[in-house]
Amino acid sequence: MSEEKGIKNICCLGAGYVGGPTCSIIALKCPEIKVTVVDLSKERIAQWNSDKLPIYEPGLDEVVGQCRGKNLFFSNDVEGAILEADLIFISVNTPTKTLGNGKGRAADLKYVEGAARMIADIAQSDKIVVEKSTVPVRAAESIAKILSANRKPGVSYQILSNPEFLAEGTAVSDLLNADRVLIGGDETPEGQLAIEKLCSIYEHWIPRKKILTTNTWSSELSKLAANAMLAQRISSINSLSAVCEATGADVSEVARAVGFDSRIGSKFLQASIGFGGSCFQKDILNLVYICECLNLPEVASYWQQVIDMNEYQKSRFTAKIVQSLFNTVSGKRICILGFAFKKNTGDTRESPAIHIAKTLLDEGASLKIYDPKVESERIYEDLTHPLICEEPEKVRKLVSVYTDAYSAAEGTHALVLCTEWDEFITLDYNKIYVDMMKPAYIFDGRKILDHQTLIDIGFHVQTIGRKLQRPKSNRCWSSNPSMN
Ligand code: UDX
Ligand code: UDX
Repeated sequence: MSEEKGIKNICCLGAGYVGGPTCSIIALKCPEIKVTVVDLSKERIAQWNSDKLPIYEPGLDEVVGQCRGKNLFFSNDVEGAILEADLIFISVNTPTKTLGNGKGRAADLKYVEGAARMIADIAQSDKIVVEKSTVPVRAAESIAKILSANRKPGVSYQILSNPEFLAEGTAVSDLLNADRVLIGGDETPEGQLAIEKLCSIYEHWIPRKKILTTNTWSSELSKLAANAMLAQRISSINSLSAVCEATGADVSEVARAVGFDSRIGSKFLQASIGFGGSCFQKDILNLVYICECLNLPEVASYWQQVIDMNEYQKSRFTAKIVQSLFNTVSGKRICILGFAFKKNTGDTRESPAIHIAKTLLDEGASLKIYDPKVESERIYEDLTHPLICEEPEKVRKLVSVYTDAYSAAEGTHALVLCTEWDEFITLDYNKIYVDMMKPAYIFDGRKILDHQTLIDIGFHVQTIGRKLQRPKSNRCWSSNPSMN
């Protein structure tokens, strides 16, 4: 790689939740660089090239609209894009292994490995290969081995780790105003030069002091550590939500009081039905597996607890629903409000709503589901996935998906709010109450509703981390005095 040559062409392998938004922002901020995002899926690329992007992300349509066809391209021509690139992001997915050693915990690097082999096979000139996918520590080493074992004479590679910290639903602003950019590379002069070249891309909009450079392994581990520590905060507050429900403390008040300590801070202390999303569980399982492999069983079991607490929270919430509805939901209609793993995304990967819906179906309920951004086919696919259910036809019969909250709520015995979409806060709950079976229940898994108003309307309300009053006129109906 010649020293003076800056990056003129970027290729990104993988047009997913990470590759798509990241490269769109790079294209927006670096108009002199040509950015090509490639993917094996023809359908995904066609969607990126259409008016309806494959992922819903606030602000992304505008960014893509501004750059696509100018310096931002979405293509299935993987070979062409690799050939002309100076720098290649590997942004393919790294799911948890479903087979063999480390099954259910270790990250499956087959797509990353496949990407490295493809680069080695195609490249005719020097490349900087940047690992953007979250990978186990020392995965860069595997990529380097594959590339060097298969490289053509005269072609050299530098491998960098540049993990992505964007969160779904806020990807555009996270990318534009990143807390930090992390770049890990070799300590050799060539490695440092490659780091500088990648820095110069981010420096188009990120202040240099926020660009941290480390060795490769620190960078890889930092990504796992950041996700593990964020998830740990959620499990910690969720564990305390159970204590609140048993004592009369209010978890929101506790979180506020704790978060005011500047050493702790207020973010990621929102008690919930449990964390979801493609990263937290996968990355912690991966960390646990790495610790076991490193013969660090105490560290492994420490992080495993974060996952266990998350499972407990999901089960605890569902058990509470069943218990409140007179210990049986068999034959009852339940409305699920929100199916995405958080608001402002249509993504349902590891969404707690899946766990809740599955348990209620197992208990014999029929479900009426509404989410503003999740397509109905996605919901059916999630609930009929072989790991979730054995009788897909039955699920399809018991689940109906609606395009508005009012029709989904009509005629149901209970509303279960799983995702904190803003529109759920301002629904007309008087109207909803009239059309529901009585007594009407609301289970607010996100603590976003005005509970006193709902109680005044006549609802029985349950939420996370707080004891609530029953509606006065209905007090004699309650089945279980310990529940409220
Ligand atoms: C990302 C990261 O890359 C992952 O490591 C992180 O932990 C979670 O987020 P994400 O962008 O969310 O993954 O994954 P996904 O939306 O599934 O996108 C990956 C894309 O890569 C898909 O469009 C898939 O078709 C594509 N792909 C996968 C390829 O083009 N080639 C492959 O060999 C494998
Ligand atoms: C996360 C990391 O935040 C991001 O830095 C990384 O790059 C990818 O993984 P993401 O999974 O997209 O991002 O969303 P995030 O906002 O972290 O939420 C994850 C889950 O935690 C959601 O289910 C959310 O509802 C839940 N959550 C979050 C809580 O339950 N309470 C909180 O206080 C915060």
